[in-house]
Amino acid sequence: MTDVSPIRSYISGFLKPFIPTATASFLLFALGAASFAAEPEASPSSEIHRIADIFAPLSRPAELLLEPTYLVLLICLGIFIAVMGVLVYVLIKFRPRGPEDHLEEPPQVYGSYNIEMAWTVIPCLIVFVLVLVSARSIVEIQDQPMPEDALKIRLIGHQWWWEVQYPDLGIITANEIHVPVSSKNGNPRPTHIILESADVIHSFWVPQLAGKTDLVPNRVNHTWIEPFKTGVFLGNCAEYCGTQHANMLLRVIVQTPEDFQKWVENQKQLPSEPKDAIAIQGKKDFYDLSCVSCHKIDSTPAEGVFGPDLTKFAIRQTLGAGVAANTAENLHAWLVDPDALKPGCYMPDMKLSPQQLDSLVAYLQTLK
Ligand code: CUA
Repeated sequence: MTDVSPIRSYISGFLKPFIPTATASFLLFALGAASFAAEPEASPSSEIHRIADIFAPLSRPAELLLEPTYLVLLICLGIFIAVMGVLVYVLIKFRPRGPEDHLEEPPQVYGSYNIEMAWTVIPCLIVFVLVLVSARSIVEIQDQPMPEDALKIRLIGHQWWWEVQYPDLGIITANEIHVPVSSKNGNPRPTHIILESADVIHSFWVPQLAGKTDLVPNRVNHTWIEPFKTGVFLGNCAEYCGTQHANMLLRVIVQTPEDFQKWVENQKQLPSEPKDAIAIQGKKDFYDLSCVSCHKIDSTPAEGVFGPDLTKFAIRQTLGAGVAANTAENLHAWLVDPDALKPGCYMPDMKLSPQQLDSLVAYLQTLK
């Protein structure tokens, strides 16, 4: 499937309810020249839903938000047209019509009971409607009963990465949430997400799966997702949380139940021991340097919890919470100077020698 670009899709979704298809197509065609290149074809399970499109929900809670979203946009569109209409009318009707216009003082109107009542009461009614509609949607999503066997995830926000725990499975990972796909009719498999923060307020947002929910220090929030399609859904932190807020990215990898089970089994196993001399040296370097004070690798003395758990680092798709693809080259660049890829991040430049860099990259790549 050839994907439309993010911008085009976003605009098409936005325009859909308001204007006829032909007009929308024309506008999109006009925009086509400036649009991004189409994504290459991908197999369905690895398909990246690159478009953070709230108009194309692929999960129950996101679907529940679609109608209120259209309603809010329609009301805003109505207000926009009314305000702009009056503005344009006034600009044309009362335009200067000659030099004598500037000498004459316009009529001075003071106080109009009718106008003041109108611009007080109408906005109050509009806001009241919006509050009721939003409250109903929030309650509907928050009060959704979770089945006993729902997958449970504890998601902890850190500056600037996501800690992902599966308390019932004994798995800890980072920046990537693996969940099984649910079916729309039949066997629902929702994932219950418990949201916490280790430092400041963050916000969980994967637009196609669910609306935003904040991760607040000293508070436990809840949300859930129930994706109907496999693939990789991109999300991000949606609450400004410091320098690298924009690079606090999250991936939700929705898998078939079989693939998810395979992933779980793999996560539960200890990482394989390095075999190459260079990787063995890398393991030694990892413990000799201060990597261990921030990172954890199961079955080894590395017990740090300040940074992401690296037990199965090599099977993750990205590094630095989505800042770069998890390749040897990028990992090398990351270790040389994390600040270059992610300015302000808390991983220090360890001033590693070229040999240490090579051996650490080799070792980290064995962690699968
Ligand atoms: Cu975390 Cu913004």
